[in-house]
Amino acid sequence: MGVGGYEDIRLDRTGQAEGFDAIGDRYDEAFPHKEGQVTAGERLLTRLPAGSRVLDLGCGTGLPTGRQLVEAGHKVTGVDLSAGMLALARRHVPRADFHRADIADLRTGGRHGPGGPQDLGRFDAVVAFFSLLMLPRVEIPLALRSVHDLLVPGGMFTLSMVEADVDDFAIPFLGNTIRVSGYLRDELRQVVAEAGFTVLEEDSYAYAPHTTEVPPEEQLFLHCRRPA
Ligand SMILES: C[S@@+](CC[C@H](N)C(=O)[O-])C[C@H]1O[C@@H](n2cnc3c(N)ncnc32)[C@H](O)[C@@H]1O
Repeated sequence: MGVGGYEDIRLDRTGQAEGFDAIGDRYDEAFPHKEGQVTAGERLLTRLPAGSRVLDLGCGTGLPTGRQLVEAGHKVTGVDLSAGMLALARRHVPRADFHRADIADLRTGGRHGPGGPQDLGRFDAVVAFFSLLMLPRVEIPLALRSVHDLLVPGGMFTLSMVEADVDDFAIPFLGNTIRVSGYLRDELRQVVAEAGFTVLEEDSYAYAPHTTEVPPEEQLFLHCRRPA
């Protein structure tokens, strides 16, 4: 289905923030040892000039990525829908700046004009680790377009998703139900390229969370650049 913009769809966030509010610090207990994510952060760091502005989209508890970027000397802005996740992030990464906002609030263009309803400025890099998978598929290209527009030309974008051919699919998650979407890797690469990014590198990892409720997953990490 071709969709022009956010004005053509109805956003439904029912249960999404509440799920993460309720999960709280059990999230980091269920998903320890994020070697793939840490490695992706390290790859990004090799490409970032000192003191870069970095947006952590759907930052969760700020671990490991917000802290990793701040400790490397970058200026980190974290955004999340869940007040509970943000409370943990502020504790874990006091030197970052956090905002409660929806990814859709950062939209650029359309009826809200450049910068969207919440204008956080432009960034040298954006990371979205397992956060765009919380959107229905119809929104993912719109969110990617916003990321593109939030970056300075030549800016870096690191994206991770779980490889799965699902759209707005309800799953049990640490005692709650959340809805997730995903793509198989060829389609993900295509969706990212269609949003205007150059994919520089891709990694994948098999990951088994510390819980029997969530099955092992294949995690995809895409290292992208907004062309200059
Ligand atoms: C699977 S967690 C990933 C958290 C973190 N990036 C990490 O790597 O651990 C997804 C995060 O996205 C947030 N989220 C879900 N929907 C969102 C939305 N529409 N806008 C902003 N954040 C959202 C959730 O509250 C949650 O913290």
